[in-house]
Amino acid sequence: MRNRYLIANWKMNLPPEGMRPYLDAVGRAEMNDVEIVVAPPFPYLRDVTRAPDRIFAGAQNCADQKSGAFTGEVSAWMLQELGVRYALVGHSERRALYGETDALLQRKLTAALEANLTPVLCVGEDLRVREAGHVARHLAEQIRAVTTPALESAREVVIAYEPVWAIGTGRSASGAMVAETVADIRDALARFWPVRYRDDAPILYGGSVTPDNVTDLQTNGGMDGYLVGGASLSSEKFLAIFDAMKVS
Ligand code: 13P
Repeated sequence: MRNRYLIANWKMNLPPEGMRPYLDAVGRAEMNDVEIVVAPPFPYLRDVTRAPDRIFAGAQNCADQKSGAFTGEVSAWMLQELGVRYALVGHSERRALYGETDALLQRKLTAALEANLTPVLCVGEDLRVREAGHVARHLAEQIRAVTTPALESAREVVIAYEPVWAIGTGRSASGAMVAETVADIRDALARFWPVRYRDDAPILYGGSVTPDNVTDLQTNGGMDGYLVGGASLSSEKFLAIFDAMKVS
């Protein structure tokens, strides 16, 4: 049985309803087997670590180094010490807007694992790649490029499939499309990573997930969870997505 996750990526935003009311509302969600992770901007991580028990804190990024003269960076070890459990690695906004390369992401993945954080590795193709029919090859390359010896002894790595063309566009992938891509990702995991990841790695979907489209993704996509941006800023919408995961 793979773990199931629902992750709120607030990006550089706070919930309009206020962080405390948001965390209280989400903390009152009825228990089920889905782990709820909230990834706020760095200064708010401590608040999330102190939120109701069933909410875990995730960082949106971490440094590739443990400590030292790296102005502006936050290390995975510092996050771990703060009580953070998860760290996004390679979000497409980091890759595209901040020039994060595969080599850097390989070091970040290694750092997160060595610090005992559970990394959430984000992969995804842009529209050009999809239209050219190269999705499987592109995702396999993103997975191969970050392979690290630290994977051998890691407890868990979560994969977030986030097609770039679906992020923040209101244009979500369909469940059927995602199911096909998940199979491609599992093939790549078996080829390039210790083979157990093929079956063990939870694969989440992200890209314009809302309470309206989550049922299709859940029923036809076979996802282990979701990485939600825009809709995660409202506790009501976030909980509606959570509820849709419960019935499957
Ligand atoms: P949206 O849900 O706003 O499309 O963002 C997805 C995302 O990038 C989550 O990491």
